[in-house]
Amino acid sequence: AEKWFGIVSIFPEMFGPFTQQGVIGRAVKSGVLSVDIFNPRDFTHDRHRTVDDRPYGGGPGMLMMVKPLTDAISAARAAGGENSKVIYLSPQGKKLDQTGVKRLAESDRTILLCGRYEGIDERVIEDQVDEEVSIGDYVLSGGELPAMVLMDAVARLVPGVLGHQASAIEDSFSDGLLDCPHYTRPELLDGKAVPSVLLSGDHEKIRQWRLMQSLGRTWQRRPELLNHLALTEEQQQLLEV
Ligand code: ADE
Repeated sequence: AEKWFGIVSIFPEMFGPFTQQGVIGRAVKSGVLSVDIFNPRDFTHDRHRTVDDRPYGGGPGMLMMVKPLTDAISAARAAGGENSKVIYLSPQGKKLDQTGVKRLAESDRTILLCGRYEGIDERVIEDQVDEEVSIGDYVLSGGELPAMVLMDAVARLVPGVLGHQASAIEDSFSDGLLDCPHYTRPELLDGKAVPSVLLSGDHEKIRQWRLMQSLGRTWQRRPELLNHLALTEEQQQLLEV
C-alpha cells in the first residue's frame, strides 16, 4: 500500500465503519491504504485480560497498564519496520492543522497510539513516542476518534485515495483559505437563486468568483488565517479593492 497506519488501541471495533465506508473504505479495498490494529488486550496474560493500572500518588482514574501497551507498540513497530514513526494522540500534543497534515502525509508508515482512561505512563511517552499530536483544545474520552481524524485528513492527500485528484487540490485549506460556497439543483430554492455567474458557462469568471468568495469568507470568519499567508498577486488585488 501507498500508506500504512498501525493503530494501538483497546477498542479495535471503533475503526470498523471508518475503514469500511466512504472514501477511506474504498482506499482500503483498493489497497492504496492499509490499517492494522494492535490491541494491548491481546498482549495480556491474566484471566481478566487487564489493560488498566493505578496511578502512583493516588487520585481518581486509571492509567493504561504498561506491559500490554508496550508489547502492542513493539508488535506495531515490528510490522511497520525501521522508519515507522509513533504518534501519541493527546490534548497535550502540538495542535494539528493542514500544514501538519501535509507533513504527516510524507511518511508512509505511521503508528498511532490511542490512550484511554487518564492516559499513559510518562516514561512510555519519553521512550516510545516520536511526536504528540492534539486535534484541538477539547478533551475526548480516548485517542481513537483523534486517530481517525488524523488518518482521514492524511489519507485524502495520498495519491489515489480521492476519486479525481483535483478534489484534494481544490479543497478548503489547500491554499490556506476557507472554501467557497457550493450550489446544486434546484436553480431556485425557497426563493433563493443560484449566483448567476455559476450558470454563465464562463469558467474564468467562475474561477475568479470562487476565489473572491474564499478570500471574503476567510477575511470575515478567520481573518487570522490571512496573516500567515503569502497571497498571490491576484489574491492581493482582489482584497485591496
Ligand atoms: N485524546 C483526548 N482528547 C484529545 C484531543 N483533543 N486530541 C488528541 N487526542 C486526544
